[in-house]
Amino acid sequence: MATVLVREETLDPSFVPPSLPGREREYGALFQRYRGAISKGLSHHQLLTGGIGSGKTALARRLGEELRRPIRAGAASLQVIYVNCWRRANDRSILLELLRSVGVSLPDRGYSLTEMLDVFEQGLRRTPGPRLIVLDEVGALVRQGTKLVYFFSRAREIALGSLSLLLVAPEDVLPYLDGASRSSFGITHSLHLEPYDEAALHKILLARAALALRPGSYSPELLLPLARAAAPRGDARFALELLANAARAAELEGRGELTPEDARRARSSLVPGESELRLDELPPPVLLALLAVARTLRGPRSGATTERIRQTYGTLAEEYGVTAVSRVTFWRTIRQLEREGLIELEPASVGRPARVTLSDVPVSHLEMLLEGRLKRAKPKSRPSVRAT
Ligand SMILES: Nc1ncnc2c1ncn2[C@@H]1O[C@H](COP(=O)(O)OP(=O)(O)OP(=O)(O)O)[C@@H](O)[C@H]1O
Ligand SMILES: [Mg+2]
Repeated sequence: MATVLVREETLDPSFVPPSLPGREREYGALFQRYRGAISKGLSHHQLLTGGIGSGKTALARRLGEELRRPIRAGAASLQVIYVNCWRRANDRSILLELLRSVGVSLPDRGYSLTEMLDVFEQGLRRTPGPRLIVLDEVGALVRQGTKLVYFFSRAREIALGSLSLLLVAPEDVLPYLDGASRSSFGITHSLHLEPYDEAALHKILLARAALALRPGSYSPELLLPLARAAAPRGDARFALELLANAARAAELEGRGELTPEDARRARSSLVPGESELRLDELPPPVLLALLAVARTLRGPRSGATTERIRQTYGTLAEEYGVTAVSRVTFWRTIRQLEREGLIELEPASVGRPARVTLSDVPVSHLEMLLEGRLKRAKPKSRPSVRAT
């Protein structure tokens, strides 16, 4: 079988990407702040927020990996302790996890929170050195009134050395913290990741495709529609899922190369049914124009000029025994399909006519749906050829 995915593990959510396109500025700022404080033996606390797939976890993990490298040979290196708090939304279970990181294992029961904190303190003293605790998905924990943030952000005062915190959550959690903890974060210590735009998602896809896919199995332009489909959410995870789906679709069919059809199929598999419903609302002449788009785009082509599509339309009109509409009406129908979200229209530019591409429907599937509907519509005499 032809391979496209040569390093599939790099598409796994647990993979920490070597670079973070679109987040260079945020990464640089955080790195400077932590490195600056830690190199002086101080601690730094930070809150990182952002929507789903905005790169919070990737940024936190990348930061941890880089900060871990010693500043100079012989310098103490930072110990990074990463805990995902989502499944452990209480202080005890998080402390148990943290205790393991300082080499202590306590039974789950029989100790109070204060006793556990004492044991953790002893553990820290045994192996002194700077530490960074990353608490990912910390929202629920903070809303439940955790004591841990207070304890860790005051760690210097209780003589534990430099203990820095990075809290990661979808939204601002500082209002839920006690006044003392809040003041150790301060307003400047809060960074929000805006959703990715299409250009950033395209860069992310390009970088990941270069790692995961066989060179030559895809073209950079092919990733653009995937970025476009994920842009309304600004979600890099969704974009990468689309990429993985497209690559798997190609492999399943025994092809070693990604086609625009794989990209379309990946998109439609994640938004099923929607386009199908819209077809039922369209009159036969419009369906025929859409069938012309689908026929023209069958095969490796990702877009075609309206003129080319009109040629196919002419043949189809004969096939279905209807009179073809005029050029102007055809153009209007194309615009209507665009408004319905069934096709995309790239406007004409200097030296290049407008091009039609299909939004989220795989061509073969669309053809089947349209032919079925047109056949059902056919017996009713010749459809009147007026498009709105
Ligand atoms: N700038 C980026 N460069 C490369 N890959 C990225 C970037 N941002 C996110 N990713 C990738 O996108 C996926 C989702 O990112 P991540 O898990 O960091 O999102 P998140 O903000 O933590 O989302 P959630 O709120 O759901 O936990 C991961 O596979 C991650 O590696
Ligand atoms: Mg995350």
